[in-house]
Amino acid sequence: MPSLIKLPSSFLTFAAALLIAGCGGGGTGGSVSPNTVQLVNHSPVVAKTLATQTATVASAFSFDTSQGGTTFTDSDGDALIYSISITPSGSGLTATAAVVSGTPTTAGSYSVAVTAADGRGGSVSTSFSMTVLPQQGVPILPATAFSYSDATINLPAQFRAGAGPGAGPGAGNLAGADNTPTDNVVSNAGATLGRVLFYDKRLSVNDTVSCASCHVQANGFSDTRRFSVGFQGGLTTRHSMGLANARYYQNGRFFWDERAATAEVQVLQPIQNSTEMGSTLAQVVTKLSAQSFYGPLFTAAFGDATINSDRIARALAQFVRSIVSYRSKYDSAFVNGVANFGAALTAQEEQGRQLFEGAARCDTCHGTVAHIADSAKNNGLDAVLTDTGAGGGRFKSPSLRNIAVRAPYMHDGRFATLDQVVQHYDSGVQDSPNLAPGLRAADGSPRRLNLTAAQRQALVAFLGTLTDTALNTDPKFADPFR
Ligand code: HEC
Ligand code: HEC
Repeated sequence: MPSLIKLPSSFLTFAAALLIAGCGGGGTGGSVSPNTVQLVNHSPVVAKTLATQTATVASAFSFDTSQGGTTFTDSDGDALIYSISITPSGSGLTATAAVVSGTPTTAGSYSVAVTAADGRGGSVSTSFSMTVLPQQGVPILPATAFSYSDATINLPAQFRAGAGPGAGPGAGNLAGADNTPTDNVVSNAGATLGRVLFYDKRLSVNDTVSCASCHVQANGFSDTRRFSVGFQGGLTTRHSMGLANARYYQNGRFFWDERAATAEVQVLQPIQNSTEMGSTLAQVVTKLSAQSFYGPLFTAAFGDATINSDRIARALAQFVRSIVSYRSKYDSAFVNGVANFGAALTAQEEQGRQLFEGAARCDTCHGTVAHIADSAKNNGLDAVLTDTGAGGGRFKSPSLRNIAVRAPYMHDGRFATLDQVVQHYDSGVQDSPNLAPGLRAADGSPRRLNLTAAQRQALVAFLGTLTDTALNTDPKFADPFR
């Protein structure tokens, strides 16, 4: 039996006082009255979870883990004290109070634990995952900018505004077709910046998608997929449009349904689209501002290093308008604006050209040397419309340049081959109230061309002469990040 240790009575009184204080206080004069309210401390709780975060090496990052004071709540109203641990160490990020910030140095997966304490013994923790992506390269650009401006690319005569008589049948006259606004003419420095932006994945919220992900140079700046894949794997609702000669779409509107009034308006929309790039203009400006290489590019294009969405729009629109196709086999028929197709094209291709510009009248909607329409038309795809486009099933058609290398076709990518497209115009045109008059027969019914198989093949062969390999492989339109 252990012996009892006799303690002085003064010590026992002191211990009792401690016990009372430990229950939240309230005792007065060293004795507990029956009416005393025992105050209980409530620990903070997690009220809102923390989503996975993504940062990129060498790009400034900042995240408030308190989410503006909403991550944790404390029913006693205690001020919360935050502590954060990032594991493994070495990310380059640091934590100050509730904020994780810094410029990441090491790519990888990290776990971030956040603890909120109430300063009275209560605390709670939660955590989230953090992905640090490897640094995207800096663009490799020539010491002297590539040539993009009209003054430096030397467009052939049939492409210059005003080229008219003598340009050859179907060559048309591009005067008045150019939708370049006087206040955003293509300059070499502006299009160079536009090219870098076009290929920069930082324009998407998680640095995974650039404009070029869906507009592939080798495919005439379209996508071989029927629907393109956005930043989270979601699919676009329409097929990606080829971009060559978009500059010569006379009414200047953009998208299949013409919903953007100008190229400058159009180019900012994919950035903010919830399927395509999922970002905000403010976020993009912040991200680009953290990259030291952008300052000189904005200065060269616009006179000073200010980065804003208006300048981003202007530069991207300049790059898009600089994608002019004028070096196809079809173009090789022209000398000083005069065409000799018989000499440049095979007999089959020439037969197809004569159909395209003659009996089949394809050129009424895919006209001029740019092979582009002037406005949206209903080309008889459907009797009952699911997508009404610009209204009444009217759609913009991109220029037919590079058409052979950018299947599938139409706004919904419904046709896998050019043969199917030609069959559509031959025998498949559907009636609906807004069917283009040019696709009706004299009696008003949908036009039937009654082409022979050889004629259909000739049309497809002619469309192949519109492939512009020089454009589709030109380094000045290629990815500058590799
Ligand atoms: C996820 C795929 C995707 C991304 C990313 C994307 N686009 Fe597109 N783009 C499309 C699709 C699909 C369309 C047609 C959409 C429609 O008409 O509704 C389109 C249409 C366009 C058009 C209209 C062409 C015309 O003649 O009317 C332009 C110009 C364009 N995109 C440029 C860009 C630029 C610049 C970027 C980057 C800022 C970009 N796109 C990013 C898929 C994409
Ligand atoms: C009345 C105007 C009109 C005529 C005539 C016409 N087209 Fe079209 N074409 C369009 C329109 C509008 C589209 C886009 C329709 C859509 O996607 O909804 C289109 C799309 C196309 C496409 C697919 C373009 C792409 O980027 O996917 C091809 C190829 C094409 N036409 C070839 C021809 C040929 C060949 C002829 C002659 C046999 C012809 N077109 C006659 C208006 C016309």
